Amino acid sequence: MKLCVIGLGYIGLPTAAMFANRGYRVLGVDVDAKKVERINKGLFDIEEPGLLAFLRDAYNTENIRAHHEIEPSDVFIICVPTPIDTNNKPDLSHVKMAASEISKVLERGNMVILESTVPPGTTINVVLPLLEKNGLTAGDDFELCHCPERVMPGKILKELEENHRIIGGINEKSCERGKGLYTTFVRGKIYTTDPTTAEFTKLAENTFRDVNIALANELAKLCEIHGTNIWNVRELANDHPRVNIHIPGPGVGGHCLPVDPWFLVDGDTGLIPKAREVNEGMIKHVENIIRQNTPKDGKVVLLGATYKADTEDVRNSPTDKLVEYLCDFEVTLHDPYVKEYDGDLEETVCKADTVVLMVDHREYVNMVPADILELMKGNVVIDTRNCFDATEWREAGAKYILLGACETSFNSK
Ligand SMILES: NC(=O)c1ccc[n+]([C@@H]2O[C@H](COP(=O)([O-])OP(=O)(O)OC[C@H]3O[C@@H](n4cnc5c(N)ncnc54)[C@H](O)[C@@H]3O)[C@@H](O)[C@H]2O)c1
Repeated sequence: MKLCVIGLGYIGLPTAAMFANRGYRVLGVDVDAKKVERINKGLFDIEEPGLLAFLRDAYNTENIRAHHEIEPSDVFIICVPTPIDTNNKPDLSHVKMAASEISKVLERGNMVILESTVPPGTTINVVLPLLEKNGLTAGDDFELCHCPERVMPGKILKELEENHRIIGGINEKSCERGKGLYTTFVRGKIYTTDPTTAEFTKLAENTFRDVNIALANELAKLCEIHGTNIWNVRELANDHPRVNIHIPGPGVGGHCLPVDPWFLVDGDTGLIPKAREVNEGMIKHVENIIRQNTPKDGKVVLLGATYKADTEDVRNSPTDKLVEYLCDFEVTLHDPYVKEYDGDLEETVCKADTVVLMVDHREYVNMVPADILELMKGNVVIDTRNCFDATEWREAGAKYILLGACETSFNSK
């Protein structure tokens, strides 16, 4: 069977490799000519535990090749980006382009799967009509499903196989054929439903997380006002069987959580946009803490440039925005996962007035407070992730400030 995966990014490339490693002949298509060239040489830019070896295995099978144009195939899987525009409206241009290109080569008996995250109704109202432009009828001549991807960066390989999947087919035959395809490698359950339910479910999941993180962030700020510590409050509250307060932090980044909730709403009012506002506002809150504790023109070192721990993904990272806001300071970044910033940690913190822990990469957890403080000019250490041991840092002489905790709170971690 010949399979064509359109969009060779974080989702498309591992998916293409998954099928290639199981014996499918896979054509990966991407508009990025450099990426196509590198993949065809066996060079991959995604750094994740186990993933590189897996991609190389796929390359060595000779079942996978990349090209910039779609070719006739039995199955087409769309994994292109679905960003928002400057007004927080979905930008479906990549999806539309991919569907139009597929339509040119689509034949009777083919199947098309949309994996990209999209607003409810996109499969039926946007993708289906574009595919049918060549005269074929969806459901009769070809199958069509939405199968949202739900993996988490950092665990892509594991979650591709282990996560449950939802197949939203436009008819029974699409559901069954889609299910058959994913059974090739999915070890989790495979649910079948209609496309709009599948689209909405994926968005509901990410919105659930964004809104709950917003609640945790709001509580963190309130804890600072009330002179207590969110991390202690959270631990005590979460011991209750019906409470699950999420983890607060300097904001929400990545390709999904800051984007997907906007696919559900029309306009800026209501709970979902408010949650976005709270999460976006956290970086201003961190900026204020830094300003209150750093001399004018001082040196600020930000530890962590990615949007989450132990990955190299910098998309929509809160650190990125913070750098913009702190333009009147001397700001230096360090991140062991990002080539641009993976210099020597000790050299980076040298002469710093303030060090801010932005991402709890495992490399930062065991930093020795005395060693770092000796190199710094000042002694301010701001921990936005509850990553450090407050007592150790304070005993070593740091003015240790924990996000969501009053400075004098005696029993912080
Ligand atoms: N990254 C994640 O963790 C994640 C998780 C779940 C779902 N998703 C969803 O999966 C989709 C893809 O995300 P991603 O992170 O892989 O994106 P990405 O930006 O890493 O990769 C997308 C690739 O598609 C290519 N592309 C764009 N338009 C194209 C076109 N018309 N034809 C061929 N190639 C095209 C780009 O050049 C890029 O290489 C998005 O809808 C996203 O929301 C992502």
